Amino acid sequence: MAAEHKVETKGLLGWIDARFPLSATYKAHLSEYYAPKNFNFWYFFGSLALLVLVIQIVTGIFLVMHYKPDAAKAFQSVEYIMRDVPWGWLVRYMHSTGASMFFVVVYMHMMRGLMYGSYRKPRELIWIFGVAIFLCLMAEAFFGYLLPWGQMSYWGAQVIVNLFSAIPLVGPDLAIWIRGDYVVSDATLNRFFSFHVIAIPLVLLGLVVAHLVALHEVGSNNPDGVEIKAKKDANGIPLDGIPFHPYYTVHDIMGVGVFLMVFSAIVFFAPEMGGYFLEHNNFIPADPLKTPPHIAPVWYFTPFYSILRANTIPFFGVDAKLWGVIFMGGAVVILFFLPWLDRSPVKSIRYRPGFHKILYAVFVVAFLILGYLGIQPPSPIRQVVSQICTLIYFAFFLGMPWWSKMGTFKPVPERVVFQAH
Ligand code: HEM
Repeated sequence: MAAEHKVETKGLLGWIDARFPLSATYKAHLSEYYAPKNFNFWYFFGSLALLVLVIQIVTGIFLVMHYKPDAAKAFQSVEYIMRDVPWGWLVRYMHSTGASMFFVVVYMHMMRGLMYGSYRKPRELIWIFGVAIFLCLMAEAFFGYLLPWGQMSYWGAQVIVNLFSAIPLVGPDLAIWIRGDYVVSDATLNRFFSFHVIAIPLVLLGLVVAHLVALHEVGSNNPDGVEIKAKKDANGIPLDGIPFHPYYTVHDIMGVGVFLMVFSAIVFFAPEMGGYFLEHNNFIPADPLKTPPHIAPVWYFTPFYSILRANTIPFFGVDAKLWGVIFMGGAVVILFFLPWLDRSPVKSIRYRPGFHKILYAVFVVAFLILGYLGIQPPSPIRQVVSQICTLIYFAFFLGMPWWSKMGTFKPVPERVVFQAH
């Protein structure tokens, strides 16, 4: 790659370039990296995910300076950060808001991939690394949530770790092994802390690098789903491409500006977000003797939590709880197979038949309903609705090899469709 880009030979930069591919990397990935000229709103979320990742790491480093991973001190150490550490409240609220905003941004980012078929050939690996990132993010959020050692931290971890005990034969021992004790305790807090601050972030960073390396190898998709590399000028530059820097750096800075306004509004005016970002019960120290009447996970887990609770009937000799665990795991794992489930002749939703758009809308609504139901206490009617929505979720993916080929497709243009304004 370095050979394609002209690099400096004189001065300090020349000295560095002879020893390290500084200019070549800058050119290959920024000033001479050609991205489709028709990126829209949905393309802000990749760079925003990077921004939130940095916010989480930086605020996390400062939190660790004052936090104590000890069952007897953890809750108080968070209160100490909030009340006594200079600007500690800001660092903590940025980190807790960042966790929720990470999921907002990543859900939008995944939605874009779904709409424009960004997981299709040749971008299957970008998507697979993405789903692995999503899994890591869920693990990271789950481990992090135990650390403040509030009632929800404690009982949420208890509920989720207990799910492992549903696995036949090894389940109960596995749950003890994960906790390091018979109940969630100091040993659990210590290992979750270790996973949250170092193990998962390392994997996450590695996956993000792999995600971006794969992206730059094949180049971005775009809202038309047209491969811009198919039409190049005499210099080998895609006709519908523009240099990432300065065009998309400026574009992304605009997105960052708007995002930071929303982010600051939450941090400064509504850090608990009505109990959705920080649950009310988590302001009560963990009490192993007092189970809260209603245990609900944080909003970003609720669609999957609803899928877990949806099944109440044992079948094929497997009990209902285990089916719940299998469905919940399956709901994420199925995403890995998306590149091969979709058989549509076009990538972007823009050129798909009208009924595909309806199916996408039904899927999104079912996912949102599952999310809503996951926060609510169970009731017979909610049970039925969550079962229907779970069915829709799986039918959308499992039926895709068939429905994605059906209907009349619009002709895909040769070049991207874009009106400059
Ligand atoms: C820490 C989380 C993540 C970061 C920092 C990240 C970063 C990025 C960036 C910077 C881009 C290029 C800009 C853009 O297209 O928006 C991108 C593209 C992409 N990402 Fe991610 N991503 C993350 C998570 C995910 C997840 C969870 C998925 C899917 C499961 C995913 C799927 C994709 C796909 C398919 C593309 C190519 C999109 C296209 O070319 O149309 N990413 N990502």
